[in-house]
Amino acid sequence: MTAPTARRRSQFISAVVEKYAAAHSTPPDARQLELQRITLEQTGRDAGMQIGNDQAVLMEMLVRAMGATRAVEIGTFTGYSALAVARGLGPSGRLLSCEISPEWASIARAAWQEAGVADRIELRVGPALETLRSLPPGEQFDFAFIDADKTGYHQYYEEVLARLRPGGLILLDNTLQDGYVANDLADGKVVRAIRSLNDAIAADPRVKVVLLPIGDGVSFVQKLGERPSAPGCAIFPSDPALAPISGWSRW
Ligand SMILES: C[S@@+](CC[C@H](N)C(=O)[O-])C[C@H]1O[C@@H](n2cnc3c(N)ncnc32)[C@H](O)[C@@H]1O
Repeated sequence: MTAPTARRRSQFISAVVEKYAAAHSTPPDARQLELQRITLEQTGRDAGMQIGNDQAVLMEMLVRAMGATRAVEIGTFTGYSALAVARGLGPSGRLLSCEISPEWASIARAAWQEAGVADRIELRVGPALETLRSLPPGEQFDFAFIDADKTGYHQYYEEVLARLRPGGLILLDNTLQDGYVANDLADGKVVRAIRSLNDAIAADPRVKVVLLPIGDGVSFVQKLGERPSAPGCAIFPSDPALAPISGWSRW
């Protein structure tokens, strides 16, 4: 089976290199292709909101390699990225996925059922900020994916970071905004919001970040600090003076 539509790819590399990279990466399986097909059929142009095949493979591998068991996603759409995360989590993992559209949420639920991962995903329909703020105080995550309304990213980032375990990862999608964030002449609400968040994260002493030009730009943010459950396994800022939590020491 072939992909039903041109998948969103990075515009930051040439078409030739992109094609080569795709040909040497794990392709989407039948379930993923079917979800792409259904999404295109039922949502039309909005299908372009799904993450690319490469990003799905990368996220699944990351989640699995981290040994993550608890994950959160802001922006489910029809469930493509959640399927990747859920596969990486494995049967004992749990993903909380937040989506505002009941219509798109129902496509996601059906797809997860077909893919055999429905029992590891809790889907909350409603404004994601309310969902995050309603979580019990002790709720912690190993991995987070932020891919919803762009002007809400900064608030999602703060809410999720507060609940992320040290060493955990937050991925933020679309942080290059087609390259407009790097163009001083480009303006607009979304570009300003993402540009200001990128600046804030780059200067945030609580984290390390790398913004990679895959897809529409993905920021990989790691929370610094020591894992209480794994003493000795610590990730610190390069400059210990930047450590935001008192009592940190270096290796
Ligand atoms: C780019 S799409 C997510 C794509 C998805 N991660 C995937 O790869 O298939 C963004 C989604 O965020 C949802 N969304 C927008 N604002 C939201 C909000 N305030 N709370 C929850 N979801 C929201 C939209 O309805 C849309 O489905």
